[in-house]
Amino acid sequence: MKNFKGKIAFITGGASGAGLGQAKVFAKAGMKVVITDIRQDALDSAVGEIVKYSGCGADDVMPLCFDLTDRKAYTEAADSVEKKFGGPPHLLIQTAGVNSFGPVEASTFDDFDWVMGVCLDHVVNGHIIFIPRMIKAYANKEEFHVALTSSMGAFMGGSGCAPYTAAKAAANNLIYSYAEALVGYGGGATVICPGNINSNIGDAEKYRPKHLSNTGYHVSEGTMKHLRAVHATGIDPVELAEILKEAIENGRIIALPFPDPSGWPPMLRSMNANIEEYLLTADERKKNMEERMKNMPPPPAGGGGGGMWDVPEGAERFGMARKDLDFVDTNKKPQ
Ligand code: NAI
Repeated sequence: MKNFKGKIAFITGGASGAGLGQAKVFAKAGMKVVITDIRQDALDSAVGEIVKYSGCGADDVMPLCFDLTDRKAYTEAADSVEKKFGGPPHLLIQTAGVNSFGPVEASTFDDFDWVMGVCLDHVVNGHIIFIPRMIKAYANKEEFHVALTSSMGAFMGGSGCAPYTAAKAAANNLIYSYAEALVGYGGGATVICPGNINSNIGDAEKYRPKHLSNTGYHVSEGTMKHLRAVHATGIDPVELAEILKEAIENGRIIALPFPDPSGWPPMLRSMNANIEEYLLTADERKKNMEERMKNMPPPPAGGGGGGMWDVPEGAERFGMARKDLDFVDTNKKPQ
């Protein structure tokens, strides 16, 4: 997709962080932007920010407040966009996401249902609701595209954020599937996989739904403070959105933005080697694992190692298990 002017973008999680950056960039490119979020207050302030950044009219931004895991609400949102802007989006960017850190063995059903619900189910919902409408309206007539904000976590199982990495891996594969499927209709698909974004995701636990509140992880104001400090070192959302825009314009299926080129590429290479490793002996595999650990940024759970993982004054290390889980290794619980 090369021409954005006058077209419609639908951006989930568009009131904050990566999604807000995308709304600013695509509004500046001349698109009408629909931003959806679960937080009305964030939507209210986002509209003004988008108008100010892009110079678009307030009427070119449509804020919609609903829970993306609610299929009925998502379908109604799609109907309201067609009503206001005269058609379905030409560009669907599914960016909303949440994360929760803790040892995988401490995870509860609620931990999986919440994180996979937002990071994977919402992506499925958006595709099922919008792609037939997009094909009907635009196939081989007008450019259209679906995009996903995934994560570097898609490429690695992480023992400290298992529901998230499982959801992102699955969501990546969905994009590869749609990329193949949409070619025949003149559409495209792109997934962007950032490592760390300067966003508000560290506060996600604050709006975790009540019915999914039984977590096995240790969560406190202090752990959120630590997470905020980590994410403050991430890529700027507008910069990230420009990278996504370039990828869409050039028909790339995947974009891998690296704020720190020394960190992620070696890690990614070593994870990719997993497939080759299948053919190795146990000794060779052990040696590879030791090599991989050397390249890995220090893990959040029980880790240390300085730099962005340092626990700021008044904060608590995130990624630990709930204290009362007696089967979990004591190193993985707050002391
Ligand atoms: P953010 O918290 O600033 O923005 C995410 C938005 O999604 C929030 O405004 C939140 O209210 C909304 N949201 C959450 N659950 C929702 C639901 N059920 N229905 C509707 N809206 C909902 O976080 P950020 O970091 O900008 O996240 C955007 C995407 O980037 C996510 O998919 C995340 O997994 C991904 N990502 C983030 C990284 C980071 O370091 N922050 C790194 C790699 C990927």
